[in-house]
Amino acid sequence: MGEKILITSALPYANGPLHIGHMVEYIQTDAYARALKMAGKEVLYLCADDTHGTPIEVNAAKQNKTPEQFIKEWFKKHKTELESYFIELDSFYTTHSKESKYFTELIFNRLKEKNLIYTKDIELMYCEHDKRFLPDRFVKGTCPKCKVKDQYGDICESCGTTYNPVDLIDGYCVLCNNKPAKKKSNHYFFRLSKFSKKLDNYIKNNKKLQPEIKNQILNWIKSGLNDWNISRDSPYFGFNIPGEKDKYFYVWLDAPVGYISSLANYLKGDLAKAEKHWNESKITHVIGKDIIYFHLLFWPAVLMGSGFQTPDNVVVHGFLNVNKEKMSKSRGTFFTAEDFRKIAEPEFLRYYLTANLTHSMTDIDLDVENFKARINNELVANIANFVYRTLSFTNKNFGSKLSEIKDKKLIEAIIKKSKEVIEAYTSFDYRKAVSLILEISSMGNKYFQDNEPWELIKTDKEKTHRVLTDCVNIVKILIILVKPILPKFSEEIEKQLKVKEQNFSDLDKKLENHKIGEAKIILKKIEELKLDLPEKKIAEEPFAKLNLKVAKIVKVSNHSKADKLLVVNIDMGSEKRQIVAGLKPYYENPQVLVGKYIVVVSNLEHANLRGEASEGMMLAAETKDGKIVRVVEAPKSKPGDQVYIDGISIGKETINFDEFMKNKIYVENNKVLSNGNQLQTAKEKLKSEIKEGKVR
Ligand code: MSP
Ligand code: ZN
Repeated sequence: MGEKILITSALPYANGPLHIGHMVEYIQTDAYARALKMAGKEVLYLCADDTHGTPIEVNAAKQNKTPEQFIKEWFKKHKTELESYFIELDSFYTTHSKESKYFTELIFNRLKEKNLIYTKDIELMYCEHDKRFLPDRFVKGTCPKCKVKDQYGDICESCGTTYNPVDLIDGYCVLCNNKPAKKKSNHYFFRLSKFSKKLDNYIKNNKKLQPEIKNQILNWIKSGLNDWNISRDSPYFGFNIPGEKDKYFYVWLDAPVGYISSLANYLKGDLAKAEKHWNESKITHVIGKDIIYFHLLFWPAVLMGSGFQTPDNVVVHGFLNVNKEKMSKSRGTFFTAEDFRKIAEPEFLRYYLTANLTHSMTDIDLDVENFKARINNELVANIANFVYRTLSFTNKNFGSKLSEIKDKKLIEAIIKKSKEVIEAYTSFDYRKAVSLILEISSMGNKYFQDNEPWELIKTDKEKTHRVLTDCVNIVKILIILVKPILPKFSEEIEKQLKVKEQNFSDLDKKLENHKIGEAKIILKKIEELKLDLPEKKIAEEPFAKLNLKVAKIVKVSNHSKADKLLVVNIDMGSEKRQIVAGLKPYYENPQVLVGKYIVVVSNLEHANLRGEASEGMMLAAETKDGKIVRVVEAPKSKPGDQVYIDGISIGKETINFDEFMKNKIYVENNKVLSNGNQLQTAKEKLKSEIKEGKVR
């Protein structure tokens, strides 16, 4: 037996669907694991769902589910999606397991025994209304540096400054919008600071890490490591800290432990065997660039401190963008893995992503036109067509039988190139692997074309037979080489060739005097790539809950008890209503509103605002800086007209404010949009005098 190898992908949160960005990582890791297995290595590919933390606890509660039920549902969906893309895991497990609990406690206790853990009081943001401490992402406010609104508690997405949640200006709780207080709590800390020297050596001596990552980490170490808070207060979903009632391990402590427990799951729950196997293995983690800190500082230090094997390699990839921009729901460029496989073959995504992947943190772009071109011109026209024309020619003219190889030199040259492909795979340079494979396929196509077998057969059948035998051998080599990327395609062609499951060791075995099976087309060109979301999605759209109507403002007056509110009387055609709106600060003379045709959410539950009834809400657009607010108008329509988006149904039930807020309606280039679609009535498409901003 050779050395043991463990390969992992980062654990997806059991908090939402897998998207095509996640797939970059699972495809990258899967191709690597498959390549090593094909090279005869003793490899296990491990992953799991990451199931703990505040967001999961909060989202489960929002859906009236227990966290256990919630994570179970996501687990099922993730498993289906991974399988649909042929991600072949030896174990896909969950961090909410007895094995994870065992190893997390084991590690914690060992660290504690070595005095690597201590407790101290710290001050945190606390929401009195929700009765909970608020993690960074649950506090928002104005950035203390650049003063942009609505930034998270840890980092400003506008200027990049990092800060403490307490530093935010006008901080508010994202759950209830109230202003949080500061509160003390006792927490557990891991002495990361003690590991500076060891980590420095560990990183410096590692010959496999990407140089840019090495530098980044060495800089972090140089600038000083802080001890790490590994506990969280209740309410939380996670593992209780031994001896504590209301404290839990922070999700990022037990998440990577999930790699070990996934191994234990593979070993049928044998914990001792799992620990031994882990410690005897060469471990490679594949991760995205956003979680380097956790995998190359916290995790190795925790492993060192508790006597576990540290990773041998951590491979970091960049992010996937769509049409050069971050995937975005509002632009319609956010694709779940499920959406995407409904519009394109899973192996098309596998091909496109690997064809663009190198051993670097560079982001990858999914450009729709480029996607189509590469699939059609390379995968289909170059590779798949060569396979089909070779096999079908052999079927038709030689009764599917092969003779003997003619051009030994050509075959040898191709086998030599194959070794470079394997090397490219094992060094994570998939872009190179794909381009070498395309070269081989082009050589095959050229050889076929140059020999003109359809002509040659008229004069020299014997020679033609040998030419085709050469081509079939090239096909066999090709399908071995593409297998880590296109396992399904390869398997289908193996069947057509009537050969056993092929590995890299089969590359130089010749296929002669053998009878192949019937050729069938497996991969077809993309005629048209419709990147619209499938129908089903539309029914789930929050917009489908809304019933928006045009109304005419007939009267505007000041609210007697609130100086920012206006009382607005509207005519909706068949009925008249009163709405209370917070528009007063934004209109110097609110009377200009009278006579305007506006849009109201007609099925919003009625409310009483300081003694005045509010029977709905009107849509208004707001500039990015929040300074200007203008009602959305429908000047060409008449009171009572329906506002809609083509293809999305109209809400029939009364909704509450939260359901309304699930909608992201916004303005771009003066168009009023939701998910990239413009709102309209039968008479006009809706516009706003505000150019860019959001609508509420
Ligand atoms: N649960 C943590 C990982 C714990 S590992 C012990 C997590 N989960 S995640 O679901 O947010 O991300 C899982 C992996 O997918 C990460 O490596 C992340 O970098 C990667 N990606 C998430 N979005 C991505 C893109 N848009 N593009 C490429 N990779 C992306 O982080
Ligand atoms: Zn709150």
